[in-house]
Amino acid sequence: MSNLYCIKGDILYTKDFGSFETIESGYILIEDSKVKGVYKNLPEKFLKVKVTDYKNSLIIPGLVDLHLHAPQFPNIGLGLDKELIPWLETYTFPEESKYDDIEYSKKVYSKLIKEIWKYGTTRCCVFATIHKESCKLLIELFNTSGLGAYVGKVNMDYDSPINLLEDTDNSINDTEELLKEYRDKFPLVKPIITPRFVPSCSDKLLKSLGELAIKYNVPVQSHLSENRGEIKMVADRYPNEPNYASVYNSSNLLGQTKTIMAHCIHLSDEEITLLSNKNVYVAHCPTSNVNLSSGIAAIRKLINNGVKVGLATDISGGHTLSLIEVMAYTMQMSNLKWIESNYQDAPLTTAEMFYLATKGGGNFFGSVGSFEEGYDFDALVIDDSKEEPFNYLSLEERLQKFIYSGDYKKIKARYINGNIVNEPNL
Ligand code: GUN
Ligand code: FE
Repeated sequence: MSNLYCIKGDILYTKDFGSFETIESGYILIEDSKVKGVYKNLPEKFLKVKVTDYKNSLIIPGLVDLHLHAPQFPNIGLGLDKELIPWLETYTFPEESKYDDIEYSKKVYSKLIKEIWKYGTTRCCVFATIHKESCKLLIELFNTSGLGAYVGKVNMDYDSPINLLEDTDNSINDTEELLKEYRDKFPLVKPIITPRFVPSCSDKLLKSLGELAIKYNVPVQSHLSENRGEIKMVADRYPNEPNYASVYNSSNLLGQTKTIMAHCIHLSDEEITLLSNKNVYVAHCPTSNVNLSSGIAAIRKLINNGVKVGLATDISGGHTLSLIEVMAYTMQMSNLKWIESNYQDAPLTTAEMFYLATKGGGNFFGSVGSFEEGYDFDALVIDDSKEEPFNYLSLEERLQKFIYSGDYKKIKARYINGNIVNEPNL
């Protein structure tokens, strides 16, 4: 017997980039954790299915965070008057070196996951630290929470502070151990190969991680072209590579398996073509990009060139774990890009931005981020009934108000893979 149920409310999602699908007072039918259909009127044969009626609430797909650093949670808001490299050296590396301590890891990571849940994020891609045991703990905690996540042990064996500098062979062996242990252990939480970025990895390490990605068919996440100083470090070290992206590509870390690259602000046209051809996902981190004075990513241009894009908080370069806020920043930064590009790169519409926050990033996880048939049922129920009803608002306008209010307290229920997920008890 399949498990069928139905929820009712004001449904809004994006199937195609640039347009909303909306049904006021409609039904979503869920069968065995997946969307079976969305209806204005429930078909006759389903009239006996149990319906949960979220009267006058918005129902939208869960939000997907394609890039964040779990160990940087205690640093949120710190040091954002610096650029990337001094910020890493002054704040980030000292904090990340603490995660050889399992008790400290547990304290931070438990609280972090509750916060991620609070803001309506249902799936995320996460950097841990170099520490194997702490990374295992993070994977286990995510699994207990009911959230979906890719979690990566960070690899660093080059030009890094002494207490974050790994022995190359240990780095490779620890990574392989994690892949073996967690590749098939949990349905919604999986390991991901995570070289921090080219400047902190030796060539041998990059090549070995690429081999592991292919051997175990696991995805990859890293940083690409965030800051001009960073790009120069890579260019100086690899004079024979045409660009930064090709360093990853030469090590089988750019689309040989599913790949996310965070930032991608200062890409050349050749790099954009490479990312597009390799089906690489760009994690767009607008809060981080403005905080660390990194720049404004050319999201319109990336999309026009066929690059996949999702949104990300990138804490603690980003100062908020709330994708609701990041959605507003995405709109604002795209407006600035429009001006900066001399009115070439048109600003994103709400529907386009919302696609990135849901289906754009969700597709990295499979059929996630939409209410089309066969999609994993991830949803947020948003009660905005306390808004002053000065005027009639369409569903799209209600979503706009929710986004710009940043008010996560309006989220009344969260579904992930067909299950209601309550505040994690960690
Ligand atoms: N590049 C390498 N490491 C980091 C990090 O922790 N945060 C950001 N924003 N960029 C990075
Ligand atoms: Fe990052």
